[in-house]
Amino acid sequence: MNAPRLGVAYYPEQWPRDRWETDASMMVDAGLAVVRIGEFAWSRMEPSEGAFQLDWLDEAVGILASAGLEVVLGTPTAAPPAWLIEQHPEILPVRADGRVHGFGHRRHYCPNQPAMRDASARIVHALAERFGSDDRVIAWQIDNELGGRCYCGTCRAAFQSWLADRYESLAVLNEVWGTAFWSQEYSAWSQVPLPEGDPPPAGSLFGRNAPNPGLALDFRRFTSDSHIDFLRRQVELLRAACDPRQRITHNLMGFRFGEIDYYALAAEIDHVSWDNYPVLDTSGRKTNPALAADTMRGLKDAPVWVMEQQTGPLGWDFVRSPRREELRSLTWQAIAHGAELVAYFRWRTARFGTEQHWHGILDANGLVGHRYEDLRALAAEIAEVGPRLDGVREQSPVAILNDYESRFALQVQPTNPSLGYEDSVHAHYEALRSFGLGVDIVSPDADLSGYRLVVAPALYVMDESRAAALTAYVAGGGVLVLAPRAGVKDRCNAVPERPFPAWLDELAGLEVTAFMSVDPSDGVSIDNGEFHGWYEELELRGATALAAYADGPFREGAAIAEHPTGDGATVYVAGVADAATLRGLYRTLAERVELPLLALPAGVEAVPLAKDGEELLVLLNHSDEAQHVDLGPGRWQSYLGDAGELPPFGVALLGRETAPSRPAAALADADR
Ligand code: GAL
Ligand code: ZN
Repeated sequence: MNAPRLGVAYYPEQWPRDRWETDASMMVDAGLAVVRIGEFAWSRMEPSEGAFQLDWLDEAVGILASAGLEVVLGTPTAAPPAWLIEQHPEILPVRADGRVHGFGHRRHYCPNQPAMRDASARIVHALAERFGSDDRVIAWQIDNELGGRCYCGTCRAAFQSWLADRYESLAVLNEVWGTAFWSQEYSAWSQVPLPEGDPPPAGSLFGRNAPNPGLALDFRRFTSDSHIDFLRRQVELLRAACDPRQRITHNLMGFRFGEIDYYALAAEIDHVSWDNYPVLDTSGRKTNPALAADTMRGLKDAPVWVMEQQTGPLGWDFVRSPRREELRSLTWQAIAHGAELVAYFRWRTARFGTEQHWHGILDANGLVGHRYEDLRALAAEIAEVGPRLDGVREQSPVAILNDYESRFALQVQPTNPSLGYEDSVHAHYEALRSFGLGVDIVSPDADLSGYRLVVAPALYVMDESRAAALTAYVAGGGVLVLAPRAGVKDRCNAVPERPFPAWLDELAGLEVTAFMSVDPSDGVSIDNGEFHGWYEELELRGATALAAYADGPFREGAAIAEHPTGDGATVYVAGVADAATLRGLYRTLAERVELPLLALPAGVEAVPLAKDGEELLVLLNHSDEAQHVDLGPGRWQSYLGDAGELPPFGVALLGRETAPSRPAAALADADR
């Protein structure tokens, strides 16, 4: 990555014209380099149909640029103006319960409505004509945080033709969805409904209107495709009219957002940007921003921009406060995980609108306050130390597979609350990261050959070709970890006529012959650990037990089993393992594949980085207490902070020269 820079979101249209110069010079004085504007300003850019008014925007860009800032321009389609909705009320999206999402908020559009698509094309085209060869503009952000499922008639018709493209014949669709179940056979595409609603809250016995699983999975794919298609149309317009020097991006929403296949979306844009609000996280997991950042970096295996970074207290209904020190620690965290730009949300706290309590760098009063002072100190520190990170890469010997299809299918049928997709991935991530291991979050279709360990915490949807890729990875010497409910569905969300884990049973050297699904607070003991909520009986067909059940119905049977293939091995974990169990497992496996583990105090995160000839380590103390990290033998030099004495929310950046690598022949000799 390049040396990191800082930026901010700014809304000139929300402030008097005579304040713009002051804001611009204060931004530069604080050490900011980039400013994003425009992403909600449609009603000012086009006050009535076709009457584009872009002079004010040009003026704002000019003022910001003359102060020394580079501009990211948003396309404003997340907030269609009132006149457009009045002319075309059909643009408003319909929610799952049939309610129309009315005007007065944002994201009030259906991505498939022709009137919306045409109006979007017009405004994007107008912006591209005006700013597409403008040196002051370095990038475009398309729309803002795409998402939302629409259940309108247009979406229904679009879904039907999407299905016709995918399956070509109704006979195929009827077969793969198994529509003989409950007389759901279709004799015309127009009969195919949208699935009704979402699954009921965890714990209820019968799904409310639980739809056909094949239909429901395809509807999620279709919704994801609809947003991506909406974005693609804008990308095409911008690419046709703009200087290729201007990058095209979109602000995504981290790991926990599960409505869009982010790998597919990322393939359409030049680089990934994302929005980082750690204080909003309700998962109770401190590592949430790290997982989000690693997920976002993994979408294109490339550095990212944080387009919106939490700044101060925030929220609409419940305002939550980060700790003051976190402005710095979370910025360094984002950078350590691959952000070349961290742009704060927002410059000045709004005086009007839904987000009056969403605190920016300045309070609504516009005066210099403690966040401004903190930012200025941080920007100076980053200007000084940041260049050390020029050219670094994350050092990740481990990959976790993130599969949106499995995620969509589990949304349709959660099965047991303990099997939640996000938590499953997160639990494995957290265990690995607790040893300071670098982890990439990658698609199951990624090239896995460079990883020592690959973990598939929730590979619920499987097929033969995916299994073949995993088999090749293991045969080539990799260690693959599978968790419960791997290979339970095919790509159409049907249950395959095969033993579980389907298509992976030979690789794992076992079959799942029974399971217990119980309350997530109930569980069983295994050697050195515990499973909760869900656990399976294994019949070993070549695998050997690494741990056995110590009680419960499968007592003495294998609970974790390992099976060698070629030079590698597959490890199957038969239940939802608690944190200590996963840590124990990964300690064993990491020692086996010779990955160096750090002993980190709770609340301290280590991010290993590398560049030619140098190994770097970022230490982040996310806790309220001073911490000491013992890095073991080896001499580390400090560029920032001190591993031996990390203050609360403290940061350290350390480096050491890497030993020249031994020639391959010598290595082979030594290992013999
Ligand atoms: C983001 C969004 C911003 C702003 C912020 C605070 O999700 O992109 O426009 O709304 O949250 O709510
Ligand atoms: Zn719709």
